[in-house]
Amino acid sequence: MKVVVNDVSKTYKDKKGREVTALQNINFSINQNEFVVLVGPSGCGKSTLLNIVGGLLSSSKGGVYFEGLAGDKEPTLGIVFQEIALFPWRTVYENVIFGLEEQGVSKSEQKEKGQFYIDMVGLTGFENAYPKQLSGGMRQRAGIARAFAVHPDLLLMDEPFSALDAQTRTIMLEELVGIWQKTRLSTLYVTHNIQEAVYLADRVIVLSRHPGQIKNIIHIDLPKVGRNKEEHVLKFEDYCDQIWQLIRHDAKEAIKEED
Ligand SMILES: Nc1ncnc2c1ncn2[C@@H]1O[C@H](COP(=O)(O)OP(=O)(O)O)[C@@H](O)[C@H]1O
Ligand SMILES: [Mg+2]
Repeated sequence: MKVVVNDVSKTYKDKKGREVTALQNINFSINQNEFVVLVGPSGCGKSTLLNIVGGLLSSSKGGVYFEGLAGDKEPTLGIVFQEIALFPWRTVYENVIFGLEEQGVSKSEQKEKGQFYIDMVGLTGFENAYPKQLSGGMRQRAGIARAFAVHPDLLLMDEPFSALDAQTRTIMLEELVGIWQKTRLSTLYVTHNIQEAVYLADRVIVLSRHPGQIKNIIHIDLPKVGRNKEEHVLKFEDYCDQIWQLIRHDAKEAIKEED
């Protein structure tokens, strides 16, 4: 399965009714088993683009196609947002199997898959806990288990760890790489954090702002596992520098506009 984003543009109306071009002529694809990261400063249109790819928002121009799906079936998506989107009235287990219920799979399959993904994200023993009883990191783990459990054609993640403290985030990133290695889901991951992008991506798509356009697409030629090892430090830092040079001007402008 391949996702093709074809000439997507998106305009919004701001509070004064003026048109704001959030995205302009965006073209890229996500290949089977590929981990693509969208990076760019606040307000460059990352979430808008992810939502358009996921069909949660319509584009003003252009479109998104899924090539190579069996028959004419709609793609199955797994989505993880920054804000914890678990159902508070459901336990961890009930949250994780939510998508499986929707798919109408049997109770025994729900149980098997639910437990498999709960174990995979390290939440064994917390099946019957409610979201409010969990730490932020554990809630995101549950969200990840729920997204993976439906065996999505495409995994979409929008700043999934940015609300976590730095240490928890580092651990979650390592775990995500481990989990991803086992499944190799085609993935679109959004972040404003350059290190995170270089740590995770097969390819990094760098967006500029006003309007959101693709500045460059960078292949990360590092092994998928262990990118934080000493032997890769120089190359890793080189990629980070290269991306920072592309977005530093826009990042400064973004700060000016915040207030
Ligand atoms: N619903 C909306 N109505 C009007 N403008 C919006 C809306 N959503 C986003 N925007 C604007 O579109 C631009 C891109 O936003 P967004 O996709 O959230 O960026 P990012 O996720 O990169 O921070 C911003 O200028 C933002 O203010
Ligand atoms: Mg966003």
